Amino acid sequence: MSDPASILPGEPRRIGIASDHGGFELKEYLSRRLREAGCEVRDFGDLQPAPDDDYPDFVVPLARAVADGAEERGVAICGSGVGAAVVANKVPGVRACLIHETFSARQGVEDDDLNVICLGGRVVGHALAWELVQTFLAARFSGAPRHVRRLAKVARLESSPGARSHGDKTFGAPA
Ligand code: RB5
Repeated sequence: MSDPASILPGEPRRIGIASDHGGFELKEYLSRRLREAGCEVRDFGDLQPAPDDDYPDFVVPLARAVADGAEERGVAICGSGVGAAVVANKVPGVRACLIHETFSARQGVEDDDLNVICLGGRVVGHALAWELVQTFLAARFSGAPRHVRRLAKVARLESSPGARSHGDKTFGAPA
């Protein structure tokens, strides 16, 4: 998976990337690897390692660009990857997750249509992070009816966050 050629033609090419200071070094590394692999990389910042910067300032614009289709996929990085995942998921249309291993990097896309991978710059090494990003980019949503059904239930929460039902079942605890 370490060969840039493993990102094949037809795989997502317009990639947005963002980080705060905790993920800055990893962002620079991954941006370089992605560009070497032929991807069009848009850097949403931070553009320098500023200890007082805040991850939402960079991750939210990235998440919005993924949600509106300007970027095909996103890579969001902070120190742990947790804050990046929390804030990215506030943007309707974004399905973001903190990923540490390749099984979830692949299955998160195949089953859950993950469109933003979140990484912890203080947690994963460069080599693992690059392998995770390549796995994420190579994966495709399966489109299987059961996954489409589940994601429709997730999406319904975005349009009506207070909804008590999602069609065939209620969201409330069992009586
Ligand atoms: C910043 O120091 C750190 O809190 C941030 O990068 C991230 O880890 C938050 O989840």
